[in-house]
Amino acid sequence: MLLDRKRDVLYKITSEIAKNKFTFMLETKDRRRQNESVTKHKLTKDEYMLTHFEANKAYLSRSKDLRMNADVLLETMKTDYSKYRKNWNELPRKAIENKAGKNYVEEIGTFPLSLDIETAAICDLACPFCYRQTIATPDTLIKPELAYKIIDQAAELNVSAIKFNWRGEPLMHPKLPEFIAYAKKKGIVETLINTNATKLTKEKAEELIDAGLDVIIYSFDGGTKETYDKLRPGRFEKNEFENVLENIKTLTRLKKEKKSFFPYTRIQMVLTEDTFREKDQFIDLFSEHIDDVSTIVYTERGGDMSVLSEKEQREMKKVVRRDSERNDNVAFLKDLKGNLFVENGRIPCEQIFQRMLVSYDGRVFMCCFDWGNEHPIGYLSDDSFKNGDQAYEQVLKSSKENKNGYEMLNLQMPSREFQIKKEVKALKDIWNGKEIQNVREKHVLGEINSIAVCEKCASKETYHWEPVLT
Ligand SMILES: C[S@@+](CC[C@H](N)C(=O)[O-])C[C@H]1O[C@@H](n2cnc3c(N)ncnc32)[C@H](O)[C@@H]1O
Ligand code: SF4
Repeated sequence: MLLDRKRDVLYKITSEIAKNKFTFMLETKDRRRQNESVTKHKLTKDEYMLTHFEANKAYLSRSKDLRMNADVLLETMKTDYSKYRKNWNELPRKAIENKAGKNYVEEIGTFPLSLDIETAAICDLACPFCYRQTIATPDTLIKPELAYKIIDQAAELNVSAIKFNWRGEPLMHPKLPEFIAYAKKKGIVETLINTNATKLTKEKAEELIDAGLDVIIYSFDGGTKETYDKLRPGRFEKNEFENVLENIKTLTRLKKEKKSFFPYTRIQMVLTEDTFREKDQFIDLFSEHIDDVSTIVYTERGGDMSVLSEKEQREMKKVVRRDSERNDNVAFLKDLKGNLFVENGRIPCEQIFQRMLVSYDGRVFMCCFDWGNEHPIGYLSDDSFKNGDQAYEQVLKSSKENKNGYEMLNLQMPSREFQIKKEVKALKDIWNGKEIQNVREKHVLGEINSIAVCEKCASKETYHWEPVLT
């Protein structure tokens, strides 16, 4: 009953998104193969990082310690970086093969490989395909002392990478460059942000370069002004193609002027019906200016069959009926060629073995798809529970009242049925805590749907897909 109700909420959300006509994305078997990219200098991001490691500010900071031989340090850090990238794929595979769920930390992955810190939950855009438009997301910033505390704990744990964003726009935090500089001084080898670049002024770009940001991933949807302005509208003021394009080019120009290798630049466009048609224009716009120009698959779980044609619904129901466990609310997906697939079993998630994410108020999560913060695995600060969900209630109220900046949002409160003890813990203990251990165990045993948040996951990679109409 409970699960059915949760599913209903999810389907409402996904169908809202689907009604916006963003259903037809992606393909199925191997999501990575769907993500295409054009690279400027034939080096992958990882090769680029290794090639220019001497300019990595974590290395430069540590090499000031005269007790260490700089060459040895450089080689050690490069080896550690390669190991981290290799482990990204290998550790989840090993865990799943060996069914190392509860005992994952003792046997395989002693610490998270990367951490995402939500420096800003607020965002200045209202991209219609983004979960922000349907799931309440607080319009709030992280407190600097919490950000520093998390970076300290991450450095102590030897975390290799920190991404300074999750659900919002990181450039909205005025102290972002300071957080990055601090992380680099603490030896974090790879710092990253995803950004919409609306606030990437010349000054901000300079601060980010000076801070030692390693990777900047721009989000830019469309190859023309018409499509971009439609898909990336401003919440509080008009957002325009030309300005953002200029901001992005400015950072590249400044990098050249400053003779800085970093940040490595990537730009990505989410493939929807609109953007798909403009793939070539998008590549042409950026291939001269950006290290890696990529398209990524659109993410949503599907589920509201009313977005499908009668024939598609009929065919899908035939497949669904073959298994009494399934009902009408199964996940489905359509690719850009119109092929239709339905879920047929689950695949264990890799994220629970790779990373953790911390929301702006110190709640810790195991996966970036838990957009509603429904399944916390620990708390790093009492801010996580002191104020309850006030910030969520606030945005819900503002959207109901159609306040300035909330007109385009149609929000629902995420589920709060899953609860854990309200106590502050260290990152290390959360990584090996019973909450995440339980999830890992269920995944390796194939009982993924017994975790409510996983049962309704939007990640295509965690489903087996069965063709319905191809
Ligand atoms: C949620 S945003 C947060 C960072 C920043 N505001 C931005 O736009 O880059 C992170 C990334 O998620 C992507 N994204 C948002 N909604 C998506 C969806 N439904 N499917 C796939 N990617 C999505 C954005 O395009 C962006 O690249
Ligand atoms: S800018 Fe990023 S976080 Fe903001 S609405 Fe768009 S995709 Fe979502």
